[in-house]
Amino acid sequence: MDPETAHHLSMAGLRTAEATGMLALASPDHPELDRPVEVMGLTFPNRIGLAAGLDKEGNTIDALGRLGFGHVEIGTITPRPQPGNPKPRLFRLIPHEAIINRMGFNNSGIESGVENVSRSRRYRGVIGFNIGKNKVTPNEQAADDYLICLRAAFPVAGYIAVNLSSPNTPGLRDLQGAEASARLLETLKREQEKLAAEHGKQVPLLFKVAPDLDDAHIKDLARVFRDGGLDGLIATNTTLDREAVAGHPRANEAGGLSGKPVFRKSTDVLAAFAAELGGRIPIIGVGGISSVEDAREKIRAGASLVQIYTSFIYQGPRLVREIARDL
Ligand SMILES: Cc1cc2nc3c(=O)[nH]c(=O)nc-3n(C[C@H](O)[C@H](O)[C@H](O)COP(=O)(O)O)c2cc1C
Repeated sequence: MDPETAHHLSMAGLRTAEATGMLALASPDHPELDRPVEVMGLTFPNRIGLAAGLDKEGNTIDALGRLGFGHVEIGTITPRPQPGNPKPRLFRLIPHEAIINRMGFNNSGIESGVENVSRSRRYRGVIGFNIGKNKVTPNEQAADDYLICLRAAFPVAGYIAVNLSSPNTPGLRDLQGAEASARLLETLKREQEKLAAEHGKQVPLLFKVAPDLDDAHIKDLARVFRDGGLDGLIATNTTLDREAVAGHPRANEAGGLSGKPVFRKSTDVLAAFAAELGGRIPIIGVGGISSVEDAREKIRAGASLVQIYTSFIYQGPRLVREIARDL
């Protein structure tokens, strides 16, 4: 089946199964998956979460939560709805257990995301909002887009992740430059402080980075993040590097590569950040986890929490439980 059709069918199936009680029968509550852990001042029921991009609109949270995820990161959500890139834009590289995607932030806008989250009543885990800028917004005004999303999401979000690392919005990764990210962080931290006073609660602010960063760049960014008071880091997004899948007929599709082939690179970047940050900023490790052992390696490299996306597509929910139980 075409991967994007399969995606929509599966998500609709999950929602129906949840709404009719079938999912509760097939996947009863697992108290042994409760392994509460405190990170960034939040209590996570376990250490494994769903990475951004699967539940872009936040309309499947209850069902995904029932499968064992201790946190669900919805989005990327932009201020206004946008259709994303022309199809096809999602490709499976099956022998590699990998995906290449160039979705381009297809989503129904921040208002709809906030509405969906307000409606999800059952989920007891942490809901992260991954926010981005609209494609038509020039980088000079990107901060305004992030501010719009930050303000709208703040009352209902567990944490807010600023996506600086999607390869599919032209110029977005330029915001990962040391100067650009320092400026953006300062603006968002100021707003976060105001919002915290207004709402009487704090919502941690995280940045999500790419795996395609060299050591000098990581050093610079780590300094910016420390000095700017960033609350958490998500390492990493998908890679532009195709070395690990060379020879596959889809290897040269434009977009970001995820799954097994990104594990090494992503984990090296995580470890490099962890060394620079010295435990002062918690890290969520994501990128290529496809087994309990991979999840353990992310923790050893310095992650406090982990996320999966691609291996959930290839292996299904059993892996979620195995990792939740193990970590
Ligand atoms: C189809 C697809 C769509 C994605 N969309 C987003 C997104 O909107 N925002 C984001 O920050 N990351 C997005 N990602 C990246 C994932 O959140 C994750 O960082 C990456 O896939 C590496 O993890 P994995 O190897 O477990 O998939 C997407 C990944 C895939 C495969």
